Amino acid sequence: MFTLRRFYSTTIQSKATTFVQNILNNSVRFNPTKNKLFVLHDNQCGLSRLLTSAYENSVDKNALTVMNFDEHEPAQIKDHINTHLSEEDLVVCIQTGAFYLNDYRLRLELFNRNMKNIEHVHLGLMPTEQYETYVNSLAFDPLKNGPSLAMKLKQKIDNAKSIIVTSGKPGNTTQLHYETEMESALLNIGDYTGMKNVGGTFPVGEVFSEPKNLQHVNGHVMVFGFPNLNRVVEIHDEPFMLTIERGTVTKISETAPHSFIEVFNVIKENEGEVIIREFGVGINDGMGKYNPLNDVTAFERQKGLHLSLGKKHTVFKKENLKSKKTKFHIDVFIDVRTIEMDGDIIFNENEFF
Ligand SMILES: [Fe+2]
Repeated sequence: MFTLRRFYSTTIQSKATTFVQNILNNSVRFNPTKNKLFVLHDNQCGLSRLLTSAYENSVDKNALTVMNFDEHEPAQIKDHINTHLSEEDLVVCIQTGAFYLNDYRLRLELFNRNMKNIEHVHLGLMPTEQYETYVNSLAFDPLKNGPSLAMKLKQKIDNAKSIIVTSGKPGNTTQLHYETEMESALLNIGDYTGMKNVGGTFPVGEVFSEPKNLQHVNGHVMVFGFPNLNRVVEIHDEPFMLTIERGTVTKISETAPHSFIEVFNVIKENEGEVIIREFGVGINDGMGKYNPLNDVTAFERQKGLHLSLGKKHTVFKKENLKSKKTKFHIDVFIDVRTIEMDGDIIFNENEFF
């Protein structure tokens, strides 16, 4: 038994190392002969330890510094970055929760100094049985999986005049209609070619947009997952229905779990109504309805569709939604069968195009 478990974890560890090497080579294009890798981690959960080892095993010791966040004062960490790192160096943050360095906004500071940054966050939300899924989600390689599909999706979304989303269990489906153009879609696929800022939060694999006219969305949509009030993604095998009229959720089916109603009520109490915004197409097939991840930041890249509830969207701006007054962006995962844009099926039973 012991041998089996050991074998299993060794397999995950070696997979993690392979995928991390791909990220270093193909995504952030880290050059170990010229640049340094600084791994800032904690040891508070198994996944954090697993990823820390994966980065340690991926780079020659001469190019590597590893620091345990919990054993150092914020000032020491800042000092290390300021005195030992320079342009093109890479900082990887491996976090059971999310590191807080007082008023020091790490990613911003790094990008300002032309350094690279990779973040893994909320790792403590994942129970042991999800470790392998998390590792598999890191297999998404921008060189292999990314550009052609993502660009094709962007092109479709950017040109779309109408979108029909069919969702629900086979034989019992319902439709949501977008009669609007969409905002110019953005890619989060780990390809930073030509970008000033190199890096971001991993895992990646998403193309996202939102309706130009938020009110031109009507119909019904079936939801299979959402983050609950504890910020843990809940998956429900039996999807439940949201009715959407003029871009606002006006009805929730009686089969919706109590934990969803709680989330819905919090948004409604704070924002007065629950509107939908993000149209997020995930293209990372390392995770999905049957191999979920508890952390929504990671799971929103799952292959398929998610929409956001609430008035907040930090990327797309809308004149009548002043960002100071908007509070919520809660991703809900759609039990999607097909996505049709201007009459073309772009997603059908878990396959694109
Ligand atoms: Fe998203």
